[in-house]
Amino acid sequence: MIFVKTEEEIDLMREPCRIVRDCLNFVGERIAAGMTTEEVDKLVYDFIKASGAEPSCLGYCGYPASACVSVNEVVVHGIPDGRTLQEGDIVSVDLCAYKNGFHGDGARTFCVGKVDAESEKLVRVTEECFFKAIESLHEGTPLGDIGYRVQQHAEANGFSVIRSYTGHGIGREMHEDPTVANYGKRGTGVRLKAGTVLCIEPMIAAGGWKVKILDDGWTAVTQDKKRAAHYENTLVIRESGVEILTL
Ligand code: MF3
Ligand code: CO
Repeated sequence: MIFVKTEEEIDLMREPCRIVRDCLNFVGERIAAGMTTEEVDKLVYDFIKASGAEPSCLGYCGYPASACVSVNEVVVHGIPDGRTLQEGDIVSVDLCAYKNGFHGDGARTFCVGKVDAESEKLVRVTEECFFKAIESLHEGTPLGDIGYRVQQHAEANGFSVIRSYTGHGIGREMHEDPTVANYGKRGTGVRLKAGTVLCIEPMIAAGGWKVKILDDGWTAVTQDKKRAAHYENTLVIRESGVEILTL
């Protein structure tokens, strides 16, 4: 069931979403070669706590950290550890904050120093996929149009769309209906109502879309070991467009 939020509820969501936005910017300014992914997680934990919010990911289904820190061929759910970031890596940071009874959720892929041309393009195109998806998104748009637009843009650039992870509704729970696939057919699915709050999060791979989960039960890597990128914002469907809460 898709919950349509009231303006009061949306107002309550602004703060956790702003914290997610600010935390992603804060981390992005500090990411550098030589840092461990655990140090990135510590930045996230401290920032969210200092903002008076809770890191929603910590303990979620047993997840052991505040952020997912996914390097190169890790698509999502990279568990922070002693791995050191190297010049030329790309690193996706995905985090959620809980405050006022609501969650905010966002992700960015950062480049560590100078990266190769394909990685740079992958990061750029993944971000563009998000903006293509929202270009003509408003009340009444069929849900399938989102995935269609992401897929079109990714494949037109020679990349592939990760299938086994999706965007989602968000609110009092971190994951609510509907499931927001990053591939699909135009004109299919429910017509979105104004006041629906969604996380749209393209996960795009430089090679094939198949992933496997490592023995830790979380870390999702591409089967062909090619790199992947991730870009996510929480947004509200409005009468004539969208309002992004994490930008
Ligand atoms: N923030 C992720 C999302 O985009 C969820 C992370 S799973 C967790 O939906 F276990 F790390 F919380
Ligand atoms: Co999400």
